Amino acid sequence: MDIKVNFSGRAVKYTEEEIAVVVEAMRNADPLTQGRYLQAFQDKFADYQGVARGACFATMNGVSALEMSAQLCRFKPGDEVVLPSHTFTASAYPYAKKGARILWADVDPRTRVITAESIEKVLTPRTRAVVVVHLYGYVADMPAIMELARKRELLVIEDAAQSIGAEVDGKKSGSFGDMAIFSFHSHKNLTTLGEGGMLYVRDPEAAAVVPALRHNGHCAYDFERPDYWKPAMGNVDMPMLGGDMLWPNNYCLGEVECALGAKMLDRIDAINAEKRARALLFIDALGDFPELEFHRVPTPRHNYHLLAARMTAGPDKRDAFMRAMFHEKGVRCVVQYIPLDRYDFYKRIGRDDAHCPNADAFFDSMISFPFQHWLSDEELHYMLNATKDVLRSLR
Ligand SMILES: Cc1ncc(COP(=O)(O)O)c(C=O)c1O
Repeated sequence: MDIKVNFSGRAVKYTEEEIAVVVEAMRNADPLTQGRYLQAFQDKFADYQGVARGACFATMNGVSALEMSAQLCRFKPGDEVVLPSHTFTASAYPYAKKGARILWADVDPRTRVITAESIEKVLTPRTRAVVVVHLYGYVADMPAIMELARKRELLVIEDAAQSIGAEVDGKKSGSFGDMAIFSFHSHKNLTTLGEGGMLYVRDPEAAAVVPALRHNGHCAYDFERPDYWKPAMGNVDMPMLGGDMLWPNNYCLGEVECALGAKMLDRIDAINAEKRARALLFIDALGDFPELEFHRVPTPRHNYHLLAARMTAGPDKRDAFMRAMFHEKGVRCVVQYIPLDRYDFYKRIGRDDAHCPNADAFFDSMISFPFQHWLSDEELHYMLNATKDVLRSLR
């Protein structure tokens, strides 16, 4: 069977205007990194998010933003961080790498994200931080989570890698917590040529160390120099943060990617709205098929980065559905986000002790449909009819 609808490795196709912006930056950017396009992207992103300018930092991908957020947590031995087990591995390992012990919180079976209740269940007196992942593009209940965090003095990091533009009560995902990270990877609704990311840091004192943290500890001398090349062209240092020294990195995003990122911010709301409208169309058209349970959200709280469903008839039916869709219909669905405690790596680091029955049950019965923005109407309708045919044949 030929593939008729593939799960694409890229989410969006660029417009001619976006391509022109890239070409312009290729021609004119000097330097090609750390210049005016980076500054412009960060400022425009902060404005889009409704947060302070100077609090957003473009990074070479979402992981480098996560790595720096983990450094800024300044974990001490024995500190713990709460994470959903149902997420992409990059949400978690940067925090373990910086010394935090991971506690796995379960997801809500309907929304597939963690809640204030599921977080509270796993907290101990050693818990310092919680990473809230807005998985699939749906924003967790941030007002309730922030209330809990303030009460229990927890740092909150939002993993908004998948949820750009999605919001709760008119407030953007990634603007609630103490920090947030975004990804502009190839799969995302906004992608800067395949790799890219953004770190948001609310505390101005912590934000002040990020430029040096992101770029090798490079900084200016704090005294007047008659000769600009002495003692050296620039200094290397790392400002102390709360008495702690942080190790520097080199995590910048190049100028061409930044130019494109800034331009794509003009279109991200339209991309999200188009994906949401299509998701609702697909979900509603399957209203007579209770075998599939979608998370239907007709508001900007969901950007439908991904279109995921649960096979209510269980894992065996899910596998039969996946096989028939692929071999008989040529539609390549995928299964995503095995709970991290089930990966060999997390077993190796001793973090395989999750008690997250909702995450396990959802993963074992989930289906993620191809849902790149550029899917044609014909492909969408073909996939819809194929889904109906296969579900009927499995009855
Ligand atoms: C939930 C989540 N967190 C983190 C990341 C990491 O982002 P990146 O691939 O840009 O490093 C991704 C995606 O790739 C993701 O989906």
